[in-house]
Amino acid sequence: MRAQIQKVPQIVELLKKKSVGLQHFKPTSSVCVLEKDAVEAAPCPHAASRAHSLDAIPGPTNWPLVGSLVELLRKGGLARQHEALIDYHKKFGKIFRMKLGSFESVHIGAPCLLEALYRKESNYPQRLEIKPWKAYRDLREEAYGLLILEGKDWQRVRSAFQQKLMKPTEVVKLDGKINQVLVDFVDRIGKVSKNGKIEDLYFELNKWSFETICLILYDKRFGLLQEKVNKEAMNFITAVKTMMSTFGMMMVTPVELHKSLNTKTWQDHTAAWDRIFSTAKVYIDKKLNGNANRDPDDLIGDILQQSCLSKKELYAAITELQIGGVETTANSMLWVIFNLSRSPAAQKRLLQEIREVVPSDQDPCGEHIKSMPYLKACLKESMRLSPSVPFTSRTLDKDTVLGDYAIPKGTVLMINTHALGSNEEYFNDSKQFKPERWLRENSTINPFAHVPFGIGKRMCIGRRLAELQLQLAMCWLVRDYEIVATDNEPLNEIRPLWSNRKTLPLTVQ
Ligand code: HEM
Repeated sequence: MRAQIQKVPQIVELLKKKSVGLQHFKPTSSVCVLEKDAVEAAPCPHAASRAHSLDAIPGPTNWPLVGSLVELLRKGGLARQHEALIDYHKKFGKIFRMKLGSFESVHIGAPCLLEALYRKESNYPQRLEIKPWKAYRDLREEAYGLLILEGKDWQRVRSAFQQKLMKPTEVVKLDGKINQVLVDFVDRIGKVSKNGKIEDLYFELNKWSFETICLILYDKRFGLLQEKVNKEAMNFITAVKTMMSTFGMMMVTPVELHKSLNTKTWQDHTAAWDRIFSTAKVYIDKKLNGNANRDPDDLIGDILQQSCLSKKELYAAITELQIGGVETTANSMLWVIFNLSRSPAAQKRLLQEIREVVPSDQDPCGEHIKSMPYLKACLKESMRLSPSVPFTSRTLDKDTVLGDYAIPKGTVLMINTHALGSNEEYFNDSKQFKPERWLRENSTINPFAHVPFGIGKRMCIGRRLAELQLQLAMCWLVRDYEIVATDNEPLNEIRPLWSNRKTLPLTVQ
């Protein structure tokens, strides 16, 4: 879940707007949420009466030792892996099997298969392990957070956060904090733009999402959007950046080897985690020791005080919430800006909705968002066309029949969110940015075709928060600025965020 783009900043211009009059707007809703039983299980057209074995799943040629690695490299390597996955789905269908070196996985790209998986999922679904993170925690005897926990421990920690973080009526209370940072962000955008152009919009967005999640989790403003950023804040954000840019290498080469050879990658990785943990602990401790008279919007304070988790568990869980919330949100916002810049008609309609719902003398807030179906549609459409997390994974903990195939326990499944969103079978004109497709009166979209936050019990726990943060940011930005594309070149190279390495799968247009 680490694929991110890096090279968009020069393509948009933000121009200051003049204010216009208001109209009344009738609220409707177009929220489409994956809840169990919300969708009647459609019979999977690919389900056979007798399931075939794993070996029968089609896929690219599996050569000894390398598997399909060479074929993938010939298709453009990791930089174009997203396109290769889409091609493979076109060639082999809804499900295919692929081996890269010794790593074998089964790829799913059909709503009916996802639905089958969702309905059969166990109590403790598992994702692919993030071994470098586990290695650090084991070394320092720290706990695991939600991103790496498994089994009953995962469920225990998840329940401590789930009730508040996944409940819209709770999350909406965070709009004040989100807005506090947005005021500074919009102001900063105005200051750093030169003739409407922002040199490193992506970095600005990362600072914005970092500042927001830290305010929510630690009640602390780090001041990243100020002109002069203080040393503590800079060290913290740099540590996260270093941690993110060093763990990828240890995902594809054995972490034990890095550890035993004490490679520079391992040293940098551990030093970065040390700094992240030591900073986070200071602020978590402050919250834990705080008095009972908390602000009504102190969601995290409530969770910390009410949970039965140990201090170590809280440190790990909160730190991973922070890590999970920064790049994903910044990246999604960058794509929203990009997609709106290339769709002036959508931007115009969005502006109209904002002006109709949000009085010009008020800040946009959570209550306003409820009456903004087009805004929600724009965000969904952007996340369909350009998901910041192009796939997630599951390691099956029991034998499972999916469509035609009986897939054994231990198999790694890749859920190809991006391939699903790019499939003409589920989305007409799939390459076009068309928010209208999500509006209730027109929508016939299968919810299992759109899973940018994953599915089931292990779905992103920050989803509600991320959506609110992005929706409010869209209101502020589009109300104050016109976002203009400065070129129309197709974008097809995707890079992992904050990384020195080359590319990970994802595409636009
Ligand atoms: C647009 C922004 C975001 C996107 C696209 C996103 C996407 C995802 C995806 C795809 C997963 C894997 C789900 C699965 O395997 O089914 C995930 C997991 C997770 N996300 Fe997010 N995320 C976003 C924002 C956030 C935020 C703001 C937070 C923190 C508040 C967060 C914290 C987490 C955590 C802790 C997990 C692991 C959950 C678990 O395994 O129980 N994410 N996210």
